[in-house]
Amino acid sequence: MAVVTICNENKTLTNIDEITTSLAACGIDYERWTPSHPIADNAPADEILRAYSQEIEDLKTRGGYVTADVIDVSPATPGLDAMLAKFNREHWHDEDEVRFIIAGRGLFHIHAANGAVLAIEVEAGDLIRVPRGTLHWFNLCDDRRIRAIRLFQDMAGWTPHYTDSHVDENFLPVCFGLAHLSMTT
Ligand SMILES: [Fe+2]
Repeated sequence: MAVVTICNENKTLTNIDEITTSLAACGIDYERWTPSHPIADNAPADEILRAYSQEIEDLKTRGGYVTADVIDVSPATPGLDAMLAKFNREHWHDEDEVRFIIAGRGLFHIHAANGAVLAIEVEAGDLIRVPRGTLHWFNLCDDRRIRAIRLFQDMAGWTPHYTDSHVDENFLPVCFGLAHLSMTT
């Protein structure tokens, strides 16, 4: 399950109801799909898409998405640092950013319209929708691994528009995870 930190309040949420409510208040949809299909997280992309075809069709209906793919990032990905540098600065898109995490982890920061900044660490089984126009940035965790189903309304709309605010520089791209939290509390 995701771990959400409300950065300005230094408050960490690990309860799904609190997480869903807090993210919804910032316009972010969060759902927990316990990986409900008996498929290995390293299965070929077409098998992943086939296994989750019903969920994908439901999302397409709800959000007007027309296509889905699987992004696979690991330390062996060519040009990984250049790829990450595109998304680790505050930006927005002209379409929603929708991810269902299959494997690995990642850290979204959301800069909400009310000024609050939320850090959302996602892991396998998490669905997140960042609506178009929402200011955000993204980092990998220390294992530099994530695999996710992506949905698009229009591939052309998913170009980052940068704010050049440098707000992102005020927040450490550090993932902790539930395991870390349970060890330290
Ligand atoms: Fe983005």
